[in-house]
Amino acid sequence: MMESLIREWDGETVIVHYDRPTGAWIFIAIHSTRLGPAAGGTRMKSYHDVEAALQDALRLSAGMTYKFAVPGIPFGGGKAVIAIPSEFDKQSCPAILRRHGALIQQLGGLFFTGPDFGTTSEDMDIIAETGAPYIFSRTLAAGGSGSPGPFTALGVFTGIQTVCEHLFGDMTLKSRRVLVQGTGSVGGALIDHLGAAGAKVMFSDVDEGAIRHFRDEFELKFVPAEAVYRTECDIFAPCALGAVLNADTIPQLKCRAVAGGANNQLADPENAKHLLDRGILYAPDYVINVGGAMAILGMETQGWARDQAEKEVAENVPRVLRQVFELAATEGITTEAAARRIAEERLSAGM
Ligand code: PHE
Repeated sequence: MMESLIREWDGETVIVHYDRPTGAWIFIAIHSTRLGPAAGGTRMKSYHDVEAALQDALRLSAGMTYKFAVPGIPFGGGKAVIAIPSEFDKQSCPAILRRHGALIQQLGGLFFTGPDFGTTSEDMDIIAETGAPYIFSRTLAAGGSGSPGPFTALGVFTGIQTVCEHLFGDMTLKSRRVLVQGTGSVGGALIDHLGAAGAKVMFSDVDEGAIRHFRDEFELKFVPAEAVYRTECDIFAPCALGAVLNADTIPQLKCRAVAGGANNQLADPENAKHLLDRGILYAPDYVINVGGAMAILGMETQGWARDQAEKEVAENVPRVLRQVFELAATEGITTEAAARRIAEERLSAGM
């Protein structure tokens, strides 16, 4: 039920737009503006039903609040979901993106957006035709700072190094077995970093082209979807969609740590306890995957150059992750609870 989803959510506002020409629903969830205007990606995909789309927007927007709060980025959390019908005609994409931009424009600065699953910097260029100046991550050609994916991947990579340091007392990735789930803009770039660092990379994907690319050209070990959770590895790096850590998958895991770029990896925050009980170190998703948003917002609102953005990501993700691991260890709580505590402290202080 839509009513109960919203009633039980702890955010501020939900904007609901029915896109009559296509039959798509657009939800913009504003979880918190405590630290600044809400920002978050626009996710475009088809969902099983409208409730699932709303729920995704609500949950993802909360993740953005914590993502910005933990390292102290002055933005609030929001997320947009464009839930397209399953028989959606790609031809109507630019038009719906323009209508989405017009909606963001009407919000007058309540919500800023960038790319997420199912949208690209090219799509941001189109949204910006009607939605400027509230659109981040447009293409370089259009004057934006391009895709956040490589920066997210860099942050995840440095986060995986930090996880190794914590687990093995040594940051090196040489010969560590890392299983990357999803080889999109984050997973693909992460594989490059891991390969360059000498890790033994395995990957899983459902896209035939991606499978051929990484298995046949890169000669990486391919793990079929049904075997992902029970495959033995040092680090499992989810870089696809959310809720991959749940009551069904956690008992199967044969890894030392979970550290990846996907948003909302835990089906329920309670699942973090289950990981802890199994002795699996969890790098909270919104802590390790902040790189993209951090870099893009830094470049577009603080005037950072690209190399400065890389430097900020590579310094901040490990720093904050170490802080989370330390707090969790000294308090005897999960890393998820530790990250949440750091976020809540900043939120209640308003900075
Ligand atoms: N998909 C990004 C994330 O989840 C959203 C984003 C990109 C936000 C770029 C701001 C700028 O972090």
